[in-house]
Amino acid sequence: MKKTKKRIAILGSTGSIGQNTLAVVRDFKDRFEVVALAAGQNIGLLAEQVKEFQPEVVAVATETKANGLAKLLETGQTQILPGDYGYEQVASIEKADLVVSAITGIAGLKPTLTALKNGKTLALANKESMVVAGALIREKAARTGSQIIPVDSEHSGIFQCLLGQEKRFVKRVYLTASGGPFLRAPLSELDTMSLEKALQHPRWKMGRKVTIDSATLINKGLELIEARWLFNLEPDQLGVLVHPQSIVHALIEFVDGSVLAQLSQTDMKIPIQFALTFPERWEAICPPLDLAQVGNLEFLQVDTNRFPLFGLAKKTLEAGLSFPVVLNAANEVAVEAFLEEKIDFGKIYQVVEHCVKNHQSRVLNSLEEIIAVDQETRNWARQYLGLKGK
Ligand SMILES: NC(=O)c1ccc[n+]([C@@H]2O[C@H](COP(=O)([O-])OP(=O)(O)OC[C@H]3O[C@@H](n4cnc5c(N)ncnc54)[C@H](OP(=O)(O)O)[C@@H]3O)[C@@H](O)[C@H]2O)c1
Repeated sequence: MKKTKKRIAILGSTGSIGQNTLAVVRDFKDRFEVVALAAGQNIGLLAEQVKEFQPEVVAVATETKANGLAKLLETGQTQILPGDYGYEQVASIEKADLVVSAITGIAGLKPTLTALKNGKTLALANKESMVVAGALIREKAARTGSQIIPVDSEHSGIFQCLLGQEKRFVKRVYLTASGGPFLRAPLSELDTMSLEKALQHPRWKMGRKVTIDSATLINKGLELIEARWLFNLEPDQLGVLVHPQSIVHALIEFVDGSVLAQLSQTDMKIPIQFALTFPERWEAICPPLDLAQVGNLEFLQVDTNRFPLFGLAKKTLEAGLSFPVVLNAANEVAVEAFLEEKIDFGKIYQVVEHCVKNHQSRVLNSLEEIIAVDQETRNWARQYLGLKGK
């Protein structure tokens, strides 16, 4: 009997996660079909993806980009839609069984919510959505019965370790962190580390924003907040271990003292494939994990003196309310400025701390309220850094 193909829509197809997702799809051409793609600015790469995977619909950031893409494609098999409307169409396309949410930053929030509102199974990479709107996302998914399958390697590890387990027996959950490029750099040099050095992640090849987040280790703080909402855990049940080899991705400690861990090669295609094939497991194309070759597996405490943004993010996790929105918005502004070489590396912490310290926390009940705090924080952060508003 001919098997039906799983139909996939990808938000952020031109990014690191998006391209890895398409690499997995390419490995299983007879079992997946790409029905929709969304990107931001990179219409050259998107055009190649459209030619190869022939989705029904694609979305890009603006009308100008949509016209540019139409010129590159010449023939009109694929519908091209611009802006927010386009992203909403990709996230809700009727034909998709599963939507991959891999746009970077809060820009991914609305399409993520749209996918859930439409009852789609969601493969979630866009951690910022969970950080700023975890409660709202959980509520939306519960209302429509959508399942959220994490893509982030640590959350995929937790998800896999929890399969078949009862949550009441879980004592603590640990995410691992490689420690990034500055784990052993001289402390006195940290504040002025160059962009080039900050982008040299020792283990993972990722997009630029998440790579800088890994250098400051705020990434691990954002992941703690993501895990809190994904798995409905209390802040004091969540911990981080620095593990430079990045082979163990997550560990679950149970009340009886047993610890389960998930291990794999440092390759994002593994958790992506798991999210796409769940509840099944398909034969992977990647080489097997050879632990004898790896040799040592080290685990260390996080040094919050070296990584103050991690400490701040952890406090934000505990404080809850609107603080995570402020943390995320200030960080997005600061990282963008650092990537454009407008500020020093050390300024990222300073501006995020400034915004969190001066924020009057409040309960956020709706998407509109979340976006208002996000915008307000972005304005403060830009003002603090002396940047022009967008
Ligand atoms: N990369 C990893 O290994 C990894 C691991 C775990 C979690 N994540 C998370 O996954 C998400 C994606 O990360 P990534 O590394 O794939 O990022 P990336 O390489 O920078 O790609 C981001 C994608 O989002 C699109 N995009 C960016 N801003 C947009 C906007 N305002 N509107 C519409 N589209 C926009 C980009 O389009 P254009 O390039 O066409 O402009 C691109 O397709 C992030 O939330 C990250 O934290 C990534």
